[in-house]
Amino acid sequence: KTIADLHALKHHPDGSIPIVCLTAYDFPTALSVRSSDIDLCLIGDSLANVALGFTSTQPLSLDAMIHHCQAVKRGLDAPLFSTASLLDGIDLPQPPLVIADMPFGGTFGSVDSGVAAVVRLMQETGIDGIKIEGSYEAVPLIRRLTEHGIPVMGHLGLQPQRVGSTSGYRLQGRTAQQAKEILDASLALEQAGCFSIVLECIPTRVGELISQRLSIPTIGIGAGSKTDGQILVMNDMIGDLTGAGHVLAALAQAPARALPTQDGQEPDATTPQHSPLTPPAPKFVRNFSLQHGTSIGALRMAAVQAYTQAVRHRQFPDDGVEAYKMKSEEWKAFQ
Ligand code: KIV
Ligand code: NA
Repeated sequence: KTIADLHALKHHPDGSIPIVCLTAYDFPTALSVRSSDIDLCLIGDSLANVALGFTSTQPLSLDAMIHHCQAVKRGLDAPLFSTASLLDGIDLPQPPLVIADMPFGGTFGSVDSGVAAVVRLMQETGIDGIKIEGSYEAVPLIRRLTEHGIPVMGHLGLQPQRVGSTSGYRLQGRTAQQAKEILDASLALEQAGCFSIVLECIPTRVGELISQRLSIPTIGIGAGSKTDGQILVMNDMIGDLTGAGHVLAALAQAPARALPTQDGQEPDATTPQHSPLTPPAPKFVRNFSLQHGTSIGALRMAAVQAYTQAVRHRQFPDDGVEAYKMKSEEWKAFQ
């Protein structure tokens, strides 16, 4: 997919179509993204939290980000080295646009040093562009990058790289004044050439108004249902860090499936025993997750596909329970 495809979804003549974005951090998560019609795949610096176990995104180095981007790209490009027969009958969607986060500190020095980090990331991984947290202070670097034709995505609202000065992960833009600051900064980022902006953890109405004011697509996370697209962290979306209770509850809700057997019988066509993009495991392997109803890979792909459909059809998020409200006096002052 291209930037033009994303813009076309926002500005579709029959009404906008929500843009579906999701993070990936390694080869298996990238394969599950590739199996669905995801518009944009982000190698988020949330990988510091969900893949590496840090308590913030600040310890993530540029080298570590490059390492993970290479793995994700191998997953997204998997058909290039899979055998043709494995892909028989599989109608693969267009691959997503691939964007990586600028790791913490990458924007703190000179524009030249920021450019050098981005060039390294792109040349050593083959990603399509970069996401940069920040507002006016990031504009000189964003401008330089976009002038040279590098796709840059902005990121406003909650900025996890600033967790220290914001005293934790909390709702942003809750007052009219704060909401106005986010709106103004988003206009500055659009002006600087960003092709899209992530809006994190802001009230639904603020996400909606910013999305209306910008011509570039907004991608929300905790920003309500009215942004032009949605993104979630893969591990949150599949609940793999939330404890066995949640996992078992999710399995209980999954539709009953005919399970593939271990003795060479053909698996049910609707339940790939292995990823459709990778070869089956050798005979000495027993998949113990099958004892719980499905294999982890199949469950992850099913979840990614369910997420894709829910976002595309505006069934996620539910503003009543999965979004934040603004006090009406603040909203009146903001409008
Ligand atoms: O790091 C990340 O995963 C992100 C998104 C969730 C927007 O920045
Ligand atoms: Na991030």
